[in-house]
Amino acid sequence: MDIMLREFGRYVEDAHRTKLFARAIAEQVRPGDVVLDLGTGFGLLALLAARQGAARVYAVEQEPRYLELAHALARDNRLDDRIHWLPGNSSTVALPEQVDVVISETLGQFALEEFTVEYLFDARARFLKPGGRMIPERLALFLTPVELSGPRQRLGERYGESWADISGFDLRRLRQAVLENEVLPYQVHTFGDGDRTLGHPVEAASFVLGQARSSRFLRAVTCKVDQPGTLDGFLGTFEARLSASAVLSTRPEEHLTHWRQVVFPVLPPRSVEEGTPLAVELGFHGGAGWSYLVQP
Ligand SMILES: C[S@@+](CC[C@H](N)C(=O)[O-])C[C@H]1O[C@@H](n2cnc3c(N)ncnc32)[C@H](O)[C@@H]1O
Repeated sequence: MDIMLREFGRYVEDAHRTKLFARAIAEQVRPGDVVLDLGTGFGLLALLAARQGAARVYAVEQEPRYLELAHALARDNRLDDRIHWLPGNSSTVALPEQVDVVISETLGQFALEEFTVEYLFDARARFLKPGGRMIPERLALFLTPVELSGPRQRLGERYGESWADISGFDLRRLRQAVLENEVLPYQVHTFGDGDRTLGHPVEAASFVLGQARSSRFLRAVTCKVDQPGTLDGFLGTFEARLSASAVLSTRPEEHLTHWRQVVFPVLPPRSVEEGTPLAVELGFHGGAGWSYLVQP
């Protein structure tokens, strides 16, 4: 089974995602523009740019097997005469000309995992005309303290409930350290009925795409409790500004997307009072993944 092809099904069904990219493309792509779609997949954003009147679209995809499908879809929709399909990673391809607009939807589960920051920095430097436009323009990550109704038990069950007696040794401290140092220390979660935010979202990192060179960061964030409750973790959401009027947000109060939300668990859950400051250190370390530490 091709897992990525299954992912494509989720992207197509995420109509909100497509609508926002279509709106940003309508705002940013002018008739006659030359466009780069970085990480075109099955070509949806390239099709949108071509339909918007782009003279040429360079559609780059590192998994060449998707390009055959993308090309056939463009033919089905009578837009293939303006799209040039280029196999390869964007950092290694060459384009025959500079472009007016760089478009990319290479946003990972918590935005950064597909290295969109690094690839868009490279694309802007090598391919974008001076004064050219980028979609997205800016990316920001947020943490919100939350109480969860359902999965509290499940979050605690990772690696077994207790390491209090492992061959007669008390290894609970090791379990805590292992959990806090996971490469992927979060769980994908759909914030829903019975879940509550205990405070406001606090920005943990932000990047101007094309200008920021690296997605790596390590940042101490302090969230404040506005509502007393049980702290089960920190909800991770991101916001991608695609254009002036198209902002993709994974916050629970916004339209649900296929990214849903992520939760960085607090183990064991703890009671928190109104006004309590909660200090979290969050980091992204490229291939080494995420680090996350909640101060006691
Ligand atoms: C999240 S999918 C989105 C596909 C398409 N952009 C869309 O919006 O429907 C990202 C795609 O980008 C490709 N990709 C990611 N980084 C890339 C890079 N630097 N160069 C070329 N392809 C890349 C992946 O192989 C994958 O097919």
